[in-house]
Amino acid sequence: MINKLKIGIVGCGAIGTSLAKAIVSNFANQAELTALYDIKENRASYLAKKLKARTVVCCSLEHLIEKTNLVIEAADAGSCLSIAKRVLRKGRDIIIMSVGGIIDHVKQLETLAERKNAHIYIPSGAICGVDSLKAVSHNKVKKIILTTRKNPRSFKDTEYIRKRGIRLDKIKRDTVLFSGNARQAIRLFPQNINVAATLSIAGIGRSKTRVKIVASPMVKRNIHEVYIESDAGKISSRVENLLHPHNPRTSFLAVLSAIAVLRQILRPLKVGT
Ligand SMILES: NC(=O)c1ccc[n+]([C@@H]2O[C@H](COP(=O)([O-])OP(=O)(O)OC[C@H]3O[C@@H](n4cnc5c(N)ncnc54)[C@H](O)[C@@H]3O)[C@@H](O)[C@H]2O)c1
Repeated sequence: MINKLKIGIVGCGAIGTSLAKAIVSNFANQAELTALYDIKENRASYLAKKLKARTVVCCSLEHLIEKTNLVIEAADAGSCLSIAKRVLRKGRDIIIMSVGGIIDHVKQLETLAERKNAHIYIPSGAICGVDSLKAVSHNKVKKIILTTRKNPRSFKDTEYIRKRGIRLDKIKRDTVLFSGNARQAIRLFPQNINVAATLSIAGIGRSKTRVKIVASPMVKRNIHEVYIESDAGKISSRVENLLHPHNPRTSFLAVLSAIAVLRQILRPLKVGT
């Protein structure tokens, strides 16, 4: 009998809940969802009850780490770095969803992971094109432009919007909220721009990756367009994401991409770059 991978989820919101259900229903032969943790304890208990699995609701991150080999971070950009460090220091692998929260510290986390013989997985999230970007990055990448288009309500509670006095409810046509590099975009839109962080890590870094963020009242979906110019040619991709039913800020594809990463970890056949 094979040893099942023990997985713990930190953050039992939209993504955490979907991933928990997928682990229990789709990977039962290879993995066990051993632990859940959420700062709002009732969310973890509610999810554990719904799953009807032998999953322990943990009272702290440390408690969860003790019970797992692989931790999935699906919490929040503000706490992601601290979660990742604590997980890696204990030699556990981690899948990181709140990529915007670790972007300034990727090298540091990689060194820590290397030292502890652990792994960091960053799913492609709500974009496509990361596979080819990884491939062309072996040679020279000249340009990467990400254009993100979302309904204005997706930017609610963003400090940048508040500080500038932008009235999201008054936006009646496509409005560019931001144009600059990924470094600035990630700082200003940490919850909205995980994809910029992922692209930067996979490609040419935060300073060289260009980002445009557009508030578009006509769109109901989160749209991400990626344009790459490289030695191997020009690559364009566009995704019209359906929103997660429990969190309109989150694209459903982000959940599916994390499930695909889990499949790569758990199953012997690995497809794609
Ligand atoms: N990589 C991507 O493409 C991508 C796409 C969408 C969302 N995300 C990110 O994934 C994260 C989760 O998204 P979601 O839609 O599930 O959000 P959500 O708000 O639905 O759920 C987050 C959960 O995490 C809990 N939480 C917050 N801080 C915590 C902490 N320090 N410890 C434990 N639990 C904590 C909250 O109580 C909540 O239950 C967010 O940071 C989001 O920005 C990434």
